[in-house]
Amino acid sequence: MKTPKIFVAGHLGMVGSAIVRTLQAAGHSILVTRTHAELDLTDQAAVRAFFAAEKPDQVYLAAAKVGGIHANNTYPAEFIYQNLMIQANVVDAAFRSGVRRLLFLGSSCIYPKMASQPMREDALLTGTLEPSNEPYAIAKIAGIKLCESYNRQYGASHGVDYRSVMPTNLYGPGDNYHPENSHVIPALIRRFHEAKAGGLPSVTIWGTGAPRREFLYVDDMAAACVHVINLSKAEYDQNTQPMLSHINVGYGDDVTIRELALAVGDTVGFEGTITFDATKPDGTPRKWMDSKRLRDLGWTHSVDLCEGLKRTYADFLKHNIP
Ligand SMILES: NC(=O)c1ccc[n+]([C@@H]2O[C@H](COP(=O)([O-])OP(=O)(O)OC[C@H]3O[C@@H](n4cnc5c(N)ncnc54)[C@H](OP(=O)(O)O)[C@@H]3O)[C@@H](O)[C@H]2O)c1
Repeated sequence: MKTPKIFVAGHLGMVGSAIVRTLQAAGHSILVTRTHAELDLTDQAAVRAFFAAEKPDQVYLAAAKVGGIHANNTYPAEFIYQNLMIQANVVDAAFRSGVRRLLFLGSSCIYPKMASQPMREDALLTGTLEPSNEPYAIAKIAGIKLCESYNRQYGASHGVDYRSVMPTNLYGPGDNYHPENSHVIPALIRRFHEAKAGGLPSVTIWGTGAPRREFLYVDDMAAACVHVINLSKAEYDQNTQPMLSHINVGYGDDVTIRELALAVGDTVGFEGTITFDATKPDGTPRKWMDSKRLRDLGWTHSVDLCEGLKRTYADFLKHNIP
């Protein structure tokens, strides 16, 4: 069988770089990549020209405009416009150049704010979204529907088979450690690391520590992506529906923020005390994905939280993040 030529869009990002590592470790040598500076995926003409010239066989769409609550609130126009454009350009140009398999990466924020827990795939479009990242979530929902619509219109005639995965919170090498704009695990790593280096006696965490969250190591996410894109059409179709086709990718278990903080403190070697400021808001009590669909399709994670935190902190130290 011919070795597929694979385009990983967003290969320098946290998830895209993990997908490249995973594909390379599995012996895939024909990888095509472009940096943001080389190919702006919001530029339709450039994206069409790129696909027409390269003609990849498979595409992982891990490029996106991504950010935390602050960035989503400050730049809502950029979040909805850029993500809609990236997806529409890549999916359509992929179709025009004959790509049969594509994997679109979304996010758990596609689910309604009040979705029952754990969140199942069929919770999609059953309620209103969390307002702070609604523009981003709407773009991601449109991405799922783009894939499904191309499958429905061009599946039988052109063999188009575009799939979507919705990851839970991810962490690992290549994460963003920005002091004001990072997710919870990199933020905690930085705070405990700085507290240890500065000899501080205690670290205070916002909220009660009671909310529960789910975290998946990014190389496990990449492995799940490779697993899903390579499932046979029959197996994928058996476990999805044409208009409910996305697959959750979770760890399967969650932890309290208190448990997480203790685990990060241990990993970093912080010996002071950890306190919780209950006067600060907690956020949603629980966010947890139902990953039964993916388990039924034969995939589960292999890196537990302690091991993942160790590897992530080693990467943080290696890159000497300021
Ligand atoms: N990280 C998480 O916890 C998490 C959780 C759930 C879902 N996801 C999903 O996973 C996907 C990847 O996320 P990530 O965490 O890997 O994000 P990331 O680290 O920010 O990577 C995104 C990549 O996309 C590139 N990019 C952005 N706009 C582009 C454009 N117009 N043209 C070309 N390249 C562009 C970025 O390049 P520049 O940096 O140069 O702009 C970056 O390399 C996203 O769809 C996200 O929703 C992530």
